[in-house]
Amino acid sequence: MDIVFHKSGNVFHIMNRGFSYIFTVLKNGQLGQLYFGAPLADRDGFEHMLVAAHRDMAPCPFEGDGDFSMEDIKQEYPVNGNGDLRNVACVVETPDGARNADFRYVSHRILPGKPTLNGLPATYVERDGEAETLEITLRDDLLDLRMILSYTTYRDLPVLTRNVRFVNDSIAADDGSTTGGTDAADADGTVTLRRALSASLDLPDAHWSMMQFTGAWARERRPQTFRLHTGVQEIYSLRGHSSHQFNPFLILKRPNTNESAGEAIGAALVYSGNFLGSVEVDNYHVTRLMMGIHPEGFAWTLRPGETFQTPEMVVAYTRDGLNALSQSFHTLFRTRLARGYWRDRPRPILINSWESTYMRFDEAKLLSIAGKAHELGIDLFVLDDGWFGHRDDATSSLGDWTADRRKLPDGVEGLARKINDLGMMFGLWFEPEMVSRDSDLYRAHPDWMIRVPGREPLQGRNQYELDLSKSEVVDYLFDSMSAILASGRVSYVKWDMNRSITDVFSQGRPAAFQGELLHRQILGVYALYERLTSALPKVLFESCASGGARFDPGMLYYAPQGWISDDTDAAERVKIQFGTSYAYPVSSMGSHVSAVPNHQLMRVTPLKTRADVAYFGTFGYELDVNRMTDGEQEQMRRQIAFMKSHRELIDTGDFFRLISPFDESEVGLQPGAEAAWMVVSADRRHALVGYYRMIMPVNEGYRTLRLAGLDPAETYTVRDTEFPLPASRFTYGGDELMARGFDISDTGFGPFTTDMYQGDYLTRLFEVDAV
Ligand code: DGJ
Repeated sequence: MDIVFHKSGNVFHIMNRGFSYIFTVLKNGQLGQLYFGAPLADRDGFEHMLVAAHRDMAPCPFEGDGDFSMEDIKQEYPVNGNGDLRNVACVVETPDGARNADFRYVSHRILPGKPTLNGLPATYVERDGEAETLEITLRDDLLDLRMILSYTTYRDLPVLTRNVRFVNDSIAADDGSTTGGTDAADADGTVTLRRALSASLDLPDAHWSMMQFTGAWARERRPQTFRLHTGVQEIYSLRGHSSHQFNPFLILKRPNTNESAGEAIGAALVYSGNFLGSVEVDNYHVTRLMMGIHPEGFAWTLRPGETFQTPEMVVAYTRDGLNALSQSFHTLFRTRLARGYWRDRPRPILINSWESTYMRFDEAKLLSIAGKAHELGIDLFVLDDGWFGHRDDATSSLGDWTADRRKLPDGVEGLARKINDLGMMFGLWFEPEMVSRDSDLYRAHPDWMIRVPGREPLQGRNQYELDLSKSEVVDYLFDSMSAILASGRVSYVKWDMNRSITDVFSQGRPAAFQGELLHRQILGVYALYERLTSALPKVLFESCASGGARFDPGMLYYAPQGWISDDTDAAERVKIQFGTSYAYPVSSMGSHVSAVPNHQLMRVTPLKTRADVAYFGTFGYELDVNRMTDGEQEQMRRQIAFMKSHRELIDTGDFFRLISPFDESEVGLQPGAEAAWMVVSADRRHALVGYYRMIMPVNEGYRTLRLAGLDPAETYTVRDTEFPLPASRFTYGGDELMARGFDISDTGFGPFTTDMYQGDYLTRLFEVDAV
């Protein structure tokens, strides 16, 4: 890892074993991008990489030099007003209405380690030697505005993180005049940021395909891949949360890049609110990738002396295919984004009450489920929605975080004690950001609701958003939640969020504030998380938003696991986990075995299938154990023991996608008919493979399953954990398992066969161990 500045050509070279990133100070003082890709040996003289040519009608800063125009020079952080007529990363507006800024290089410094981002989640280091940071200061002298571009690279990961900080250096004098700024800035030096994205990256060609992760409630993060076209292609959220619809993550890959080979760039935004991921191909084949807070509705007033900090964007590079790219994100997110007591600890296997009791329960019912779950080896009982106020359905009580004594006569603490006495941990559901109109909180503080005065606010699930830009609201939530959690008997919190934010207006606040509200709302959420996780460091937080509507890198900083979807059907879950795995580690994916017929699809899948999918996540159950037969309970007991003995391999092993549930399978089965993935231990001696055959083929051809990530020189056994498998009679070379694979053909069908592996939605789990 190294960050080098070559004074002769004013060139910066950020490099490690995985990539090189090179840019320069241009002759107009702005920064020009030169190269991002496979590692290059450092040397003096990369300046020739700057290409510029005369383009008709291009605006040029220097008379007599018609070749130099920001319209087609590749840049580091394009700003409005310099002749770049593409979409830019930053728009600064002065009170006279001018939208024009001109930031020029002033200085830079190279620091060991990585500074934290004030009030925002971000990747971090544990020791300075793990990473190095370059901070470049640019300045607009007319506006007295400083812009600090920050770049961090990790020694052992091919990732670059970026963020931007704006500092208004004007000093407002008593008489209202300023030391800096001139006519362009207003009398007191205030400017407005109308757009302040986290980073921009110009790539020299457009020969890329874009992968986005898109969906809706119950079908989150489905990969969609398409060739870039001239113009803008975007992913975004305008919902006040990162959303089911698009995840703040995208991949640019060469069209022939696959899971095991080829070049790709991944980009993720460490943020949970409105975001924009924009990929623009200009008419000279330059690809501009930008990410940040969505500019729609955003307007940040920066007064003299104030600073604005953007969220962090993480960029990763690979030449070795998508699995390698994902593994870089997995390692970074699991070890240097997630934090706290539970980061590296085996997570408890939980049973959640939602799909077994919904809001209709009493204490005896909960204790009967918990008691049985404990007998089977489950560690944690989680009481979901319906325990507070008088909440029997979704029309009331959000905001009133006190126990409903009709259901819990001894309060939360009483129930928690009884659960603890069983030998189990206890967990509780909250939806802190919301308020019901039928609540004491709303009656006491109607002005705490986000709404436009004079208009009837839109409801979502009969509920409304609290205004967390107000510190008194954050204080109230902290106090009322900590009062419940203070007993020390609650070991886990599920933090839910079930509606999008509309009617965006902070009551009692001036006009200039309103463009800041949505970002301040997320800062309020982060502040509350920070206070609670600091006050209760051993409590495990799981994030949730109607399933996976806020499953994003920002949340991982506070909650090391998140509920990825409300869809608990095993067949759908394979797709959701597969898509989620492009960016997120297995250890972050909340995954439960639920009852059949499944509550979302009415589909019936075997208990084994449901567990074989859920193992590749945090693992737990969401069903009434008392309704399971003795045989099923025995099976659950074995599943729980299996998960406990394989937890470390699953959580920390390298994850490889093998067969996509979205593609045509290699042997011609219909798309979605099968899927497979695996995890491999760091020493490559142990692996666990999940194979999911959703549709049974009839009299199909021979099929083999090719593995990945093994030691080619090692000899392995392959053991099916349940069904007899002819392949388990042999040993295999690691090279053979990866190049040829092993046989998984179905050997029989019809009622007269002795083969047990028959029917739809059947799965196999293979343990692969070095001899
Ligand atoms: C939505 C969540 O995704 C569910 O898991 C459950 O907690 C419900 N909310 C409770 O209202």
